[in-house]
Amino acid sequence: MRTYRIAPSILSADFARLGQEVRAVLAAGADWIHFDVMDNHYVPNLTIGPAVAQAIKPHCVRADGSPAPLDVHLMVQPVDALAQAFCKAGADLVSFHPDASTHVDRTLQLIRAEGAQTGLVFNPATPLDVLDWVIDKVDLVLIMSVNPGFGGQSFIDSALRKTEAARRIIDASGRDIRLEVDGGIKPENIRRVADAGADTFVAGSAIFGQPDYKAVIDSMRVALSR
Ligand code: DX5
Ligand code: ZN
Repeated sequence: MRTYRIAPSILSADFARLGQEVRAVLAAGADWIHFDVMDNHYVPNLTIGPAVAQAIKPHCVRADGSPAPLDVHLMVQPVDALAQAFCKAGADLVSFHPDASTHVDRTLQLIRAEGAQTGLVFNPATPLDVLDWVIDKVDLVLIMSVNPGFGGQSFIDSALRKTEAARRIIDASGRDIRLEVDGGIKPENIRRVADAGADTFVAGSAIFGQPDYKAVIDSMRVALSR
């Protein structure tokens, strides 16, 4: 039995009350905080930077007082300088799109050198091939089930087959690597994503779009426990 993690994306939170939103979603039972960084270059949208990560870091605390990982998803190009800046701002994990980095192996090394965990993110049409060469430097594989850039999009079904393929690669490696899926996840489809092999689930609009965060997270956990 896998340990499942639910990672609400604060992209759909109320940006005027970000610290309170982070605390509220963690009190509602979330495990990680997913932080979407968009640069209006790699993706056609612009969001938040390292100063905001640093500001919300003290709020990344669960109800029992334990720290909740800050899971930074970089949708930026170039990657390296911002990856380092987010590590210094308190990111626990920093994920980037391999097609956005000229030297993927080097970017992975510099994130680890800053003391954070590494993630590689794969768009709906991006193959997993780079994992063959850098899997020893990867702590998380993130499969996009929407095209990055916006919250509230529909789940792309081919992401299930890619998640299955990523699960096989991770299991064959024998390494402790988390498999996260991002985009269009809701209580109604989270079980299918888990069945494909995912253990970590990003959900933005499904959680922050409802008044009762705990009710949504609870219904996701019920679906995962079946
Ligand atoms: C999309 C982002 C996602 C997004 C998910 O580019 O990476 O994390 O916020 O939002 P939903 O769950 O609404 O699809
Ligand atoms: Zn994301």
